[in-house]
Amino acid sequence: MPVHHDITDLTLAARGRDRIAWAERAMPVLAAIRERFTRTRPLAGARVAACLHVTAETAALMRTLAAGGADVRLCASNPLSTQDDVAAALVDDGIAVFARAGEDRTTYFQHLGAALAHRPQLVMDDGADLATLLHTARTDLAASVIGGTEETTTGVTRLRAMAREGVLRWPVIAVNDAATKHMFDNRHGTGQSTIDGLLRATNRLLAGATFVVCGYGWCGRGLATRAAGMGARVIVTEVDPLRALEAVMDGYQVMPIAAAAALGDFFCTVAGNAGVIRREHFLAMKDGAVVANAGHFDVELDLAALRALAPAARRIRPHLDEHTLPDGRRIYLVAEGRLANLAAAEGHPADVMDMSFADQALSAEHVITSHRDLAVAVHSVPRTIDREVVRLKLRALGVVIDELTDDQRTYLTGWHAGT
Ligand code: NAI
Repeated sequence: MPVHHDITDLTLAARGRDRIAWAERAMPVLAAIRERFTRTRPLAGARVAACLHVTAETAALMRTLAAGGADVRLCASNPLSTQDDVAAALVDDGIAVFARAGEDRTTYFQHLGAALAHRPQLVMDDGADLATLLHTARTDLAASVIGGTEETTTGVTRLRAMAREGVLRWPVIAVNDAATKHMFDNRHGTGQSTIDGLLRATNRLLAGATFVVCGYGWCGRGLATRAAGMGARVIVTEVDPLRALEAVMDGYQVMPIAAAAALGDFFCTVAGNAGVIRREHFLAMKDGAVVANAGHFDVELDLAALRALAPAARRIRPHLDEHTLPDGRRIYLVAEGRLANLAAAEGHPADVMDMSFADQALSAEHVITSHRDLAVAVHSVPRTIDREVVRLKLRALGVVIDELTDDQRTYLTGWHAGT
């Protein structure tokens, strides 16, 4: 049967296959799960609509779900992050993909619609776009859904808001909240790959530069660590006093964005919030400031304000647009304000996506097999899944740790006198 798809170029499949094979070398946990899925087929016949960044690592997850028997349709969770060769390889392997790098807004939503036309039982989101559509414009396609999984902080925030308002229609597993996801993917994945995106877009030196990180959550911590490791002076901006204090004690300068705006050579938002850098901040920036976003949506920078200040932006390098302010100062915007690590680089390294997507695969299995026992709510990933993923990752890395002796277990769990 011909595979449904809308992709850029099917002839790129061979290159995509090499890219997927390279990623899979660094994904032993997912490989172990795929091996079990191939034998036991826990997802047999389940229709899955997945809206994820169409990268080599995502391809490894799609291949794992298909090995488990799922009938998968994949669309992109961001118009700029699709790797066209990977999309071609997946289609060549019989997986339906609807994604083209650089697709416009209309095509983006057409592709979401094509994934949903599958009448999915499981909805796998990165940013909750499919779930939101199914609760709004496309309720007609929602009847078959038994549950969902959500990959990122911003998606979990949106779904929790739906649950609070009493409109959420099925149980969702917050994959982002698994320790084996956010402690590694958000922190080390976003940290390293955002620096990669900034360097590919600018090829500028970070050593000696002032690097402003807006938001000191899991992603912000990782980004600040990597920027400092490259020799930058890091300034953190925050709205949460506890996170701000953490950044101070981690050794960074902390100040409001209004003060940081005039000091930064590089700015990157990772706040999961809108309007973090606004008109007055752009106006205060130095000539040559580089501005990027690694939060899920491109709303963290007030791009409308930047365009109003500098209507005649021009692309000077791939993924870098020069905006000239009325007084002649120039601000350089990376990847149109979209996720810099995915649009200007290749997203997270496979080594961390191994765990995130192991959590996804096991959470999908959990929803398919246990949805009748799950209340309509946003659920944590079961601890058994987190523990299984960390156990498999340590084993793959060849790391052995101590086990509690009986005496130690008794000491830790019982009453005992001090000295
Ligand atoms: P988090 O909730 O751990 O951290 C966000 C931090 O930003 C919080 O400490 C919050 O207080 C702070 N914040 C909120 N508004 C702010 C403002 N106006 N100014 C300064 N700080 C502000 O979230 P996490 O996990 O770090 O995720 C952040 C964003 O990155 C989300 O949109 C998430 O979906 C996205 N993300 C992106 C990835 C990528 O590949 N680029 C990977 C994982 C997450």
